[in-house]
Amino acid sequence: MSNAEGPQSSPRQEKAWGGVFREPTDRRVELFSESVSFDRRLADDDIDGSIAHARMLADCGLMTVHEADSIAHVLEEIRGEIHAGRFEYSVSKEDIHLHIESALTARLGDTGRKLHTARSRNDQVATDLRLFCRRAIDRLDHGLAELQQAFLGFAEREQGLVIPAYTHMRRAQPVLAGHQLLAWCEKFARDRDRLADCRKRTNVLPLGSGAVAGSSLPIDRDHVREALGFDAVAANSLDGASDRDFACELAFVIALSMVHLSQWAEEWILYSTQEFGFLKLPEGFCTGSSIMPQKINPDVLELIRGKSARAIGNVQALLVLLKGLPTAYNRDLQEDKETLFDSIDTLEAALGVAAPLVAGTSFDRERIAATIEQGHLDATSLMEALIAQGVPQRTAHETVGRLVRLAMTRGVALADLADEEFSGEYAGWNAGLRGALGASRAVERMASFGSTAPASVAEQIAGWRRRLGAAATP
Ligand code: ARG
Repeated sequence: MSNAEGPQSSPRQEKAWGGVFREPTDRRVELFSESVSFDRRLADDDIDGSIAHARMLADCGLMTVHEADSIAHVLEEIRGEIHAGRFEYSVSKEDIHLHIESALTARLGDTGRKLHTARSRNDQVATDLRLFCRRAIDRLDHGLAELQQAFLGFAEREQGLVIPAYTHMRRAQPVLAGHQLLAWCEKFARDRDRLADCRKRTNVLPLGSGAVAGSSLPIDRDHVREALGFDAVAANSLDGASDRDFACELAFVIALSMVHLSQWAEEWILYSTQEFGFLKLPEGFCTGSSIMPQKINPDVLELIRGKSARAIGNVQALLVLLKGLPTAYNRDLQEDKETLFDSIDTLEAALGVAAPLVAGTSFDRERIAATIEQGHLDATSLMEALIAQGVPQRTAHETVGRLVRLAMTRGVALADLADEEFSGEYAGWNAGLRGALGASRAVERMASFGSTAPASVAEQIAGWRRRLGAAATP
């Protein structure tokens, strides 16, 4: 470009890598390739990493302890300025790593110029991103635990309430409300397990991999590992500086968590409609309509459901970003951050409103009780009672099917049928079989492990209390 050296361009000597260049960087390239507008979020991790690196360099005789002390001191000063919003950013310095290093060098001169010894931005950014993800994983785990607490608290409040469970969105069998609520705890527990597993592979130190081949200087990578709390040191420098598997894994774990949240949101949107009338959402978590004065809308749940789309898309974006990359660092990798940050922010924000929304929601017990005997929720219970008397399952199924048809025709519940009507379909009928009828009895008769039986639900509640600790939500 003819105007590449125009007044718009930054002088090459400003660049950390300017030595070999005869022409300044085109301003348009600076704008196109900068990442400081988003990777400034790595500032704390970058400073932590640099301090650990400087201390290691001193320990290995590559700078003096005094120099490492001054570097650490000035880096903390810079951290303070960044936190206070007093730090100046400029696209000509590309990314947060170069910003911090150049601020350091501006204050410390040659001492600052030693910090990048045996380090490349490739292993530096990989380290920063892992530190960032590690902190994010711990926050997300905490957020998921708080959401579990909220579901557990709700389950405890609603002991004894029987609600319909649906399959195919058709009334299926009666369950305890607590059983339904604790199903969400299970899903979020698996999400937390996946986070913990992903954390293991995230918590590996790339620093010391250099750009691609390591370093000829006598560095001690284990020193840095220990200082930064990593479990292991990346064993291969090519892989170490470029591995982003942990980012994909985290994005996936987040996407699946968001899918769980989205399913929950969908269910509660339905359950809180006037048509279902099961749930009363807290008004502080609903919004209104600018034209229809009567509306109280579940926008928070809708947005959680909607935002899951971004988290799902981000997994694909990361996988596609990586699929064409040859071994080692390529600048494409700079594109990992906005995607990953967006996933982390999305889940964190969703969890921040989901837990208090759950804590503030209640069931409309009267409304549920008024309709619980609709839909023949006890049909399976009756069928199993026949099976227990020796009737083959297929026969029992057919028999109860005919009884349900009869009840449907008369517009009544199974329990409303007369003994003669039962014995008309099943010769072995006896009044004792009535014990299988009615939603509450159907629940009480459950016996299998993990079922909705009151004892099973009580055990689940106790188990979750043990696992999650004392109640934290209001
Ligand atoms: N901003 C870059 C990134 O996020 C840092 C690494 C740049 N390395 C390089 N060789 N240009 O990936």
